[in-house]
Amino acid sequence: MQKLPFVLAITGASGAIYGLRLLQYLLEQEQPVELLVSKAARQVMELENGLTLGDNLKVELLGYLGLSLLAPLIVHNLSNYGSSVASGSYKTMGMAVLPCSLGTLGAIAGGLTENPIHRAAAVCLKERRKLMIVVREMPFGHIQLKNMLAVSEAGGIVSCASPGFYHKPQTIADQVDFVVGRVLDQFDFDNQLFKRWCQVERPLPAFKV
Ligand SMILES: Cc1cc2nc3c(=O)[nH]c(=O)nc-3n(C[C@H](O)[C@H](O)[C@H](O)COP(=O)(O)O)c2cc1C
Repeated sequence: MQKLPFVLAITGASGAIYGLRLLQYLLEQEQPVELLVSKAARQVMELENGLTLGDNLKVELLGYLGLSLLAPLIVHNLSNYGSSVASGSYKTMGMAVLPCSLGTLGAIAGGLTENPIHRAAAVCLKERRKLMIVVREMPFGHIQLKNMLAVSEAGGIVSCASPGFYHKPQTIADQVDFVVGRVLDQFDFDNQLFKRWCQVERPLPAFKV
């Protein structure tokens, strides 16, 4: 049976690396991905990852991630409001917005569909498909907290990019994989990206003051 596509949106919050790593992991598992990258996310990727994207996002991203051009990736143009993921009749396994900016959070919470990312998220909610958003900001204001509650009440899974420390991370990549692994857990991908609680053998080192 053909795998349903996973919809991934990378928006302009800090932490584009989370979305890029999720994309890499899914494609390595030969999971078809339909990707949307906001304009602001491109700017963040340039600044944080040294990744300058032009017009051929598919080739550029696959090259950056060290993946074959045959990887099952579809990249949607953000000015195309008629893309597959804009319709509920197009079946997908759900959607993650990683990272999710406060702007996109507000749009999803308010049911706005100013771009195809918002529309794809609205489609997931109305079709009762899994939608996970991973917001990145600190601190949160009252409006953002209310928006997160609204998305949760509408059936979305709301999270912050808040990696744990109990798995003994040694590198930034370990921290990224913790967050990405927990997103994958929500979509029932059996992943080994991080050490789970009770898989960690050593006690935490004593805190040095
Ligand atoms: C380098 C950089 C880092 C940013 N970090 C955040 C962030 O962590 N959280 C956030 O909500 N917005 C952040 N922003 C602002 C968003 O990119 C901006 O609000 C944008 O309008 C979001 O648009 P989008 O949701 O369509 O991606 C950042 C912008 C830049 C350039």
